[in-house]
Amino acid sequence: MSGSGDRIPVLTVDGPSGVGKGAVSSRVARRLRWHVLDSGACYRVVALAALDAGLKIDQEDQLVALCERVDLSFEATEDGPLAWLGGEMVDSGLRAERVSRMASQVAALAPVRAALLDLQRSFCRPPGLVADGRDMGTVVFPDAPIKVFLDASIEERANRRYKQLKEKGENVKFAGLFRELKERDRRDRERAVSPTLPAADATIIDTSDLGIEAVVDRVLALVSDWLA
Ligand code: C5P
Repeated sequence: MSGSGDRIPVLTVDGPSGVGKGAVSSRVARRLRWHVLDSGACYRVVALAALDAGLKIDQEDQLVALCERVDLSFEATEDGPLAWLGGEMVDSGLRAERVSRMASQVAALAPVRAALLDLQRSFCRPPGLVADGRDMGTVVFPDAPIKVFLDASIEERANRRYKQLKEKGENVKFAGLFRELKERDRRDRERAVSPTLPAADATIIDTSDLGIEAVVDRVLALVSDWLA
């Protein structure tokens, strides 16, 4: 590993909702046999626990206390990282629309973000880590040697999400899904703390006209270049 020295290699994969970060990160992690971190799941777990406890977004102390109890692990599958919470598979519950909405609200709170930093960094273990999120390359792993930012138009992202949900037999309406995605994009990009932005040293990949495997190949090529 000539590029790496003694450091554990970290590949950061950032980008907006619905751009395919999960599937790309998970497939790359499988090919490399590295660990995978789905940082969005950290916010989703806190959001779900907050909803279950009936907490409101202004109850910051209680929300931070929830962050301290998160015991998450991930399994890299071809479709994306599967989240396990304390040994129980929780993935589908985390993907519900009300959880997505609450996750993007709790993620705008600086104390919640600070409380989840150590947890996210603890996933950096040998032989390497693929970290998927919004601020992996800018805040959580700013020294990561390989950074990518995946992007695609909102229309394309909404279309992909719509098809995915339809294939799963879910009864969704495109217009509602588009509105939710737009609102989540706005909150994630405009928030004061850790907005969704490419790191200055990230390679930006526009995935609008690319299939998942083509994106995976491009990302693996970046890793090979760095390892060479
Ligand atoms: O990636 P995913 O859609 O699962 O993320 C859920 C929410 O968590 C996002 O809408 C975003 O607000 C937040 N998030 C974040 N920073 C990350 C990952 C996710 O703010 N690194």
